[in-house]
Amino acid sequence: MNDGAAGVALLGLGTIGTGVARLLTAEPARIARRAGRPVRIVGALVRDAGRPRGPFAQDVAVTTDARRLIEDERVSLVVEALGGTEPARTLVLEALAAGKDVVTANKALLAEHGVEIFGEARRLGRALAFEGSVAGGVPIVQALGVGLAANEILSISAIVNGTCNFILTSMTRDGVGYADALAEAQRLGYAEPDPTFDVDGTDAAHKLAILAQLGFGANVATSSIPRTGIDRVPAADLRYAGELGYVVKLLAQAKRTEAGLELQVAPRLVRHGTPLADVSGPYNAIRVVGDVVGDTLFYGRGAGAMPTASAVVGDIIDVVLGRAAITFRALGLWREDGVRSMPAPPAAIKSRYYVRFTIADRPGVIGAIAQALGARRISIASVIQHDPGDDAPPGSPVPLVIMTHAAVQADVAAALDEIDRLDVVHPPSICLGVED
Ligand code: NDP
Ligand code: HSE
Repeated sequence: MNDGAAGVALLGLGTIGTGVARLLTAEPARIARRAGRPVRIVGALVRDAGRPRGPFAQDVAVTTDARRLIEDERVSLVVEALGGTEPARTLVLEALAAGKDVVTANKALLAEHGVEIFGEARRLGRALAFEGSVAGGVPIVQALGVGLAANEILSISAIVNGTCNFILTSMTRDGVGYADALAEAQRLGYAEPDPTFDVDGTDAAHKLAILAQLGFGANVATSSIPRTGIDRVPAADLRYAGELGYVVKLLAQAKRTEAGLELQVAPRLVRHGTPLADVSGPYNAIRVVGDVVGDTLFYGRGAGAMPTASAVVGDIIDVVLGRAAITFRALGLWREDGVRSMPAPPAAIKSRYYVRFTIADRPGVIGAIAQALGARRISIASVIQHDPGDDAPPGSPVPLVIMTHAAVQADVAAALDEIDRLDVVHPPSICLGVED
């Protein structure tokens, strides 16, 4: 480019690619001032070049020829916003090999292929920036990699999936059904191209693997992170949790313990009035505890075009300035000789639990359940049996909600297995951990 502008190739012109195009074209003077020179989009890779594009995307030159775009001599920087692991992985490697720096918001790609991609970037002397990959517009990558660099990180507890948080908030606060809430999250551009990854906890596990790398230097395979999604939580339990003074949130958690690094993604009960309980809709929050700083909380919009464009364009500015190259080299992430970390066995994790049984309303049922729990040293903190109503025939199923004191996950699982086999219990029972 004759005026010394930095040329950007956008791989993908969907929700995020269009958000980036919008910010770069709406605020060229601001971006040029911050980056030290103009930043211009050279073109965008799409799947369907004939599809009409909306505002901000319609002026971008689109192509289906990835190699030609990446190798265009005007391009110094490639922004990967395709999603999924292929062809994203191949194209990012091709971009690095062609001497281009890379910005990506693709957590699946980093969590699954971090070692290979970061290794190649280091070998080729290129920079790779990925702020948009965790928590959308919240600068948590910068915070963990730079701002908290003087700390040993002790724990991370986070709401990092905007789609799940939006669905849970809509169901809890507005009484919207699960399917309608998911459809709305998709319409608003929060969900992954395949929303199964959002609701089954995979997307949060990808982000937790990245946070574990940044916070604990741990190379964790996503497949080794125990995870449960919100697709397993019936609406009734959101109501019962509310009656007990809690709200259900999908939490991604990492904690340094004597047994190793405890990692898990699961819907958990969070007490009303605590900071994470108040995180609603597509907002995300990450609570990080460091040995020097103590407790910190990072909060903001975790999904959607413009919050993520804020992170991606921030990375573009860092790359153009040359700052990303320094951070990238200094962080030394996903090294081949890095600590391969197996999460501590989930069975050993200790927590309080919310358990809901569906039982026959007959004498002695609660006693049988209490005995199965007691035999495994699981102590009951409270019991609520909901009244089936005067019209219900004897023996009608009723919900029985039990809150336990702190117990070991493996003991609770074994007790539930036994209880679910009682002929007065209608399986499956619902079990959720409780945050204190
Ligand atoms: P979209 O599905 O909206 O967009 C994907 C884009 O990539 C489309 O333009 C599509 O082309 C193009 N594309 C996909 N596959 C190919 C292919 N094989 N060849 C050429 N082009 C292809 O996804 P998002 O923008 O929502 O997500 C992009 C990335 O950003 C993902 O990694 C996601 O995890 C991440 N992300 C998303 C956030 C969000 O809130 N949505 C937030 C943070 C990160 P076409 O338009 O022709 O279909
Ligand atoms: N689908 C993701 C979410 C996008 O809902 O959080 C942001 O990474």
